[in-house]
Amino acid sequence: METIRKADIYQKKRARNLVLHLHPIKLRKETIRFQLTFGLGGMSALLFLLQVFTGILLRFSYVASPAEAYDSILAIENDIFFGQFVRNIHHWSGILFVIITFLHLIRTFYTGAFYYKRRWNWIIGICLMILVVFSNFTGYLLPWDQLAFWAITVSTSMLQYVPLAGNWLVEFVRGGVDVNASTLLIFYNFHTAILPITIVILMVFHFWRVRKAGGVVVSENSSNEMAPSDPDLVLKELVTGIVLLAFIFLLSVFFNAPLLERADPAFSPNPAKAPWYFMGIQELLMHFHPFVSAILIPLLFVIGLIWLPFLKFDRQYEGIWFFNEKGKKLAVLATIVSFFIVTIAILISEFLINFEGWLPSLPLIISSGLIPLFLVATFLFILMYFIKKQYRTDTSELILFLMTFIIVAYVVFSIVAIFFRGPGMQLMWPWNT
Ligand code: HEM
Ligand code: HEM
Repeated sequence: METIRKADIYQKKRARNLVLHLHPIKLRKETIRFQLTFGLGGMSALLFLLQVFTGILLRFSYVASPAEAYDSILAIENDIFFGQFVRNIHHWSGILFVIITFLHLIRTFYTGAFYYKRRWNWIIGICLMILVVFSNFTGYLLPWDQLAFWAITVSTSMLQYVPLAGNWLVEFVRGGVDVNASTLLIFYNFHTAILPITIVILMVFHFWRVRKAGGVVVSENSSNEMAPSDPDLVLKELVTGIVLLAFIFLLSVFFNAPLLERADPAFSPNPAKAPWYFMGIQELLMHFHPFVSAILIPLLFVIGLIWLPFLKFDRQYEGIWFFNEKGKKLAVLATIVSFFIVTIAILISEFLINFEGWLPSLPLIISSGLIPLFLVATFLFILMYFIKKQYRTDTSELILFLMTFIIVAYVVFSIVAIFFRGPGMQLMWPWNT
């Protein structure tokens, strides 16, 4: 009788409260702790909503044709009430969306929330991450200024290094040999319809899986104390959301989204740089054959991420940041080692190594592709062996070390390419670029 009454109250409360369709009525107190998740998943969801809202507003004035796109952006900025502000919000939150979603990926990794019941949600998450990056990428072309045109030209040209189908793929993505009117239309359709709809579908699935796993991850030793989601969790979400919105609005009041001169297919800026999140790959291109840097390494990384939840993982690390005390030390060590090794490797590769010149009889894919890749892989293997022996790590701790090493390496590559590469992609100080 008592259970029926409880269920009845629950149903009534749920029917009246939209929020309780998202959250259970009560959850473990530990899951509400801000420092466990930093609210990053919720922030990603809010940023998506903001993108859809501002994106639809922009669509009222934006025209997706090379002859009119740039002028329509000028009209949004100059003739439309709050047009510049809306464009700025879309621009800054588009960047934040990529960063926050990536931080959310990092948080789920470092709290061991990618294993067992959360395995499939991790994989859905990887798909979401790729979709978010491509949402930003397809939006990048739309202003049709020099920045947009050449960034997309540089990035799409990397596809030509896919074996056998490369040139076909470039033409397929661009809808022609060069970036042209068809490319703009293709990107516009993906940007404003196909990608957002796919994100919505996966996001619904993603949220459902969080509920299926019994909420966010917690350590097995944490207390079983329960708390009502409304107001305990809802209030925290509200405050996080308001702070995030306030930050974006302030950014958008003071800093305008960039707009260079109208796109000129006949005049390429020097250097022509890819969007910032692909700059790490552009830096890799300076050191490896394009097949290795633009196709093989990113592919191996994504396969590694998808494979991750199927490797051996110690469940006692779930819900604990960096797994344990040793994990924290390993993360710091990996950060320092990666920073110095990658910086030194970039300098050595730039000024001392020239496999192409030393081995002219070999095909480029071997001399400047597979040989340097083999050297890097051997180095990583020895490093991991040393860490395993020296710190007596188990598989989980070793993966934590490797993941940290790779993330820091990508950040260093990106910083070098964004700030330290000038005309001809030569290395130089930022104030000379
Ligand atoms: C899914 C997340 C989205 C991301 C990450 C994103 C990102 C971007 C970016 C980076 C730009 C270039 C803005 C600039 O810097 O100049 C852009 C432009 C644009 N986006 Fe989105 N967007 C998203 C969703 C949407 C949606 C759902 C719509 C419409 C339904 C939309 C409509 C537009 C339009 C019309 C432009 C061209 C106007 C301009 O460049 O200012 N976007 N988007
Ligand atoms: C559009 C992008 C995304 C949105 C809106 C989103 C949203 C969320 C939310 C709201 C949660 C629960 C609360 C929290 O952890 O903050 C969550 C959990 C989770 N997300 Fe995401 N997420 C996105 C992308 C990703 C990515 C890129 C990954 C990783 C590859 C990922 C993996 C996970 C996992 C494994 C959980 C369960 C965490 C746990 O149980 O502690 N998500 N996501």
